[in-house]
Amino acid sequence: ALALGAALVGCGALPGSGAPLHPVVTHEFAQPLAIPPLAPSRLEDGVRVFALEARSGERSFAPATAPGASTPTWGFDGDFLGPTLRAVRGEDVAVEVENGLPEATSVHWHGMHLPAAMDGGPHQEIPAGGSWRPAWTIDQPAATLWYHPHPHGATETHVLRGLAGMFILDDDRTATAALPSEYGVDDVPVIVQDRRFADDGGFVLSGDGAEPGLLGDTVLVNGTVGPVHEVRRERTRLRLLNASTARSYRFALPDRPLTMIAGDGGLLDAPLPLDAIQLSPGERAEVIVEMRAGETLRLRSEAVELGGVLLPGASGGGDAFDVLELRAAETLEPSPEPTWEPSAHAEADALHETDAVETREFELNGREINGERMDLGRVDAAVELGATELWAVRSTQAIPHSFHVHDVQFRILSVDGAPPPPELAGRKDTVLLEPQRRYLLLMRFDDYADPDHPYMFHCHMLLHEDEGMMGQFVVVESGSGARAEAGLDAPE
Ligand code: C2O
Ligand code: CU
Repeated sequence: ALALGAALVGCGALPGSGAPLHPVVTHEFAQPLAIPPLAPSRLEDGVRVFALEARSGERSFAPATAPGASTPTWGFDGDFLGPTLRAVRGEDVAVEVENGLPEATSVHWHGMHLPAAMDGGPHQEIPAGGSWRPAWTIDQPAATLWYHPHPHGATETHVLRGLAGMFILDDDRTATAALPSEYGVDDVPVIVQDRRFADDGGFVLSGDGAEPGLLGDTVLVNGTVGPVHEVRRERTRLRLLNASTARSYRFALPDRPLTMIAGDGGLLDAPLPLDAIQLSPGERAEVIVEMRAGETLRLRSEAVELGGVLLPGASGGGDAFDVLELRAAETLEPSPEPTWEPSAHAEADALHETDAVETREFELNGREINGERMDLGRVDAAVELGATELWAVRSTQAIPHSFHVHDVQFRILSVDGAPPPPELAGRKDTVLLEPQRRYLLLMRFDDYADPDHPYMFHCHMLLHEDEGMMGQFVVVESGSGARAEAGLDAPE
């Protein structure tokens, strides 16, 4: 077993006891699961244009709060969370973002391949009352992506207050696949977040420095406390998104496997039955649940175990609880066996280890990556346009981190030299780094050379990110990488 004592002393854990440090309170499963509306869009000169307004609001999270209490919130086009954006590979899209909040924020398109100036990171903050109109072409496989704020040093509280939403991409493959695909009926967004409430009903917005950041005692799905989804078909596709700021989950059903069909970056090669699927902050998985007529099932989260050790404070592990109740109707409409064809873009999308021209090492520790904290004026790496690279990443301490790279989808080649488990074998943009293990990631930096606008890589445990566990890279024209590396400096 790993030596946990030192790392966890600060948050009062009882190493070895396995007792949950931040137990989740289970509320009665009695409220219909809210389904985020699909965002309307208009076509303007061939561009699909969405509009999103970040604004403040208020809503009740009863019974998690005292009777009558209401919670001040932030949301996009509503009080909490935001609508689901949806676009097809090949489409040109634009989003008119308005910031109706009392402070600056930004909107990052997590998992999206797009120009760095459109990425919505800390260099694209929108002042209070301001607006921003990123535009790009959807150029990647169908996938469940998401959007959330990324303001410098304040991402955790902006997400905790309620800013996040799903961004679904479709393509030729999902158009012809035999998969549940009626949005909100048998193709269901499942945005999982934990929250803690103060006595007056307000969100608790700070974990007061405890690792790994604030862990809530109430689990929300799409903002619903004690959610129930009425199931009408034999198979239901759940688009699981861990939009929590610090907590990891290990999703499972009580008595049957989940069939995973997609990870962060899109469909797997084939359906993958799993006993459980673990998601750290930022990660997604699409799973299919099969049900019999008339039965009730609960999607649960099992205790998160890393390297054979329960990490109570470090990941929200050590705790098991129910997340979402699924109630099947007395008669279920048939659903086809899930299948899909190989993508017409498969060869272009594929990553080959033999193409790698560079290996970079990243060590995550405390709030630092390679001994440095985030500095908006420092670029940490210049990668060449079109280059395939290997990034070797490791948490060099006894707690895990959730490593995310903007712009690309990577492939995990190995974990400590061994092939990754099958649920980590697909396209990924975020991966939970188990303590001390070396993850070898293969990625290619296609398109969008721009020496003046960096992309981010960081820990997706948002307190860690806010406190500095983030770095920046730029994509530069091929041939200029070494020169750029030699003179890395501040983007203005
Ligand atoms: Cu989901 Cu840099 O973030
Ligand atoms: Cu971290």
